Amino acid sequence: MQKWIMSGLFFFACALAVVLMFTLPGREAEIAEEKPTMPEVTLDAAAAEATLRASCIACHGDQLQGGMGPALDQIGAEMDVNSIYNIIAKGRRQMPAFENQLQAEEIANIALYLSEQK
Ligand code: HEC
Repeated sequence: MQKWIMSGLFFFACALAVVLMFTLPGREAEIAEEKPTMPEVTLDAAAAEATLRASCIACHGDQLQGGMGPALDQIGAEMDVNSIYNIIAKGRRQMPAFENQLQAEEIANIALYLSEQK
């Protein structure tokens, strides 16, 4: 009898988990939104430097040594290319989002460039 109750509870919990999985508001979509996927690009260092110069050095310093924003000259040792891409695209606190100002490929190119700064 007790076994029957236990397995009944177990199946109920499973059913509940399945229902929640499908009804909780688009958790997967949210995650996809937070973590845009980086397009494949081949590094164009000159273009990356030009974009950095135009959009980033005001806050990160002309040698990427840091200023109002943190230093980026060794950022590749701390963050992987996808995290860097993500921060540039989406911003974080005082860091502005660039997804509406730069092409995804441009952001990917600077992310790749920065990921090699270690
Ligand atoms: C308005 C000033 C400003 C501009 C412009 C700016 N950033 Fe930032 N950035 C910041 C600040 C402030 C932070 C720290 C964010 C935080 O506190 O979470 C930051 C954080 C970052 C980080 C994460 C660093 C870390 O150590 O966690 C990266 C990478 C980065 N910025 C790249 C860029 C790039 C690339 C550009 C140009 C496309 C850029 N930023 C333009 C202010 C700026």
